[in-house]
Amino acid sequence: MANLSTRFFGLDLKSPVIAASSSMTGHAEQVIKLAEAGAGAIVLKSIFEEEIYLELQEELSQRSSLHADPEYLDYFDYVIKEENIKKYLKLISEVKARTNVPIVASINCVSSGEWVLFARKIEEAGADALELNMFVYPEVYKSGENDEQFYFDTITKVLQVVKIPVSIKISHYFTNLPGIVQKLSQTGISGITIFNRFYSPDIDIQSQTVVVSDVLSLPDDYILPLRWTGILSGILSCDLAATTGIHTSESALKFLLAGASAIQIASVLYIEGPLAITRMNNEIAHWMDQKGYTNLSDFRGLLSQTSSSTQAWGRVQFMKYFGEKAF
Ligand SMILES: Cc1cc2nc3c(=O)[nH]c(=O)nc-3n(C[C@H](O)[C@H](O)[C@H](O)COP(=O)(O)O)c2cc1C
Repeated sequence: MANLSTRFFGLDLKSPVIAASSSMTGHAEQVIKLAEAGAGAIVLKSIFEEEIYLELQEELSQRSSLHADPEYLDYFDYVIKEENIKKYLKLISEVKARTNVPIVASINCVSSGEWVLFARKIEEAGADALELNMFVYPEVYKSGENDEQFYFDTITKVLQVVKIPVSIKISHYFTNLPGIVQKLSQTGISGITIFNRFYSPDIDIQSQTVVVSDVLSLPDDYILPLRWTGILSGILSCDLAATTGIHTSESALKFLLAGASAIQIASVLYIEGPLAITRMNNEIAHWMDQKGYTNLSDFRGLLSQTSSSTQAWGRVQFMKYFGEKAF
């Protein structure tokens, strides 16, 4: 019988299929269902700095007479954040009391500011690990180096505050992706997940308005993180996981073959519910049995750039494939 155990977030997981952070992981009952379905770990919905900020604005507008007092503003900022954190801490302790599946807290960070101190409270509430969902919106007046420094500063500060393992989830928006990801892997973090998927605007040509594009990923979206999993998996000093577009056991297996230790899924959970995890676990085990593999380590990374002779991961231009096509 195939053994699906793996290691990610600095933790031993019984399955490589992780329930990624989303609104599905923001309620205790749903988290328990995901655990019962066989998730290797569950990443709770992120605390968003943006969300905290919006709440703060709303409260402030109701108390306009106090706007002028900077000392009060500092205090108020703290209280509001405390309220948000309290709800989050309650969620962590509740789900920790009800399941043995590793629970990973998540913070959506765009700065290395005050929230860093709250990471310790997350640890005290019992979270097994912490994932930082990191992204800096690029602005024309800022340099790439400046934006990259945010990642290092934040990781350093968080690692000083907590003892639980810290992982990061990042986007692909870097100039030299392998260079920066390798450096990030050497900071003391336990894992890196590539790549987060963002809210993206689209255009409705009938109403001629900007609208929200599909919130959920499509099954073909896995191709971008797959390439970079193949390239990065052999050159990092921490474990690598992948997310975006992984809807089937087939795509999950591709990531394991490319060298990922785990995969994080969200969209397919919205489409199929928690049983998508059970299905993927069963199908991965079935494929391993068919191929004669006992452990994930028997085939993990077999097709990565470092372990295979293929040049395909680094090829970007189509050249001969479309150059000679006659119509
Ligand atoms: C509705 C929704 C809410 C999400 N909320 C969060 C979040 O709070 N924090 C986070 O790090 N990622 C969040 N994500 C991103 C997912 O964790 C995941 O990395 C991404 O959707 C790619 O995986 P998928 O293709 O399986 O959806 C969210 C995704 C969706 C679809």
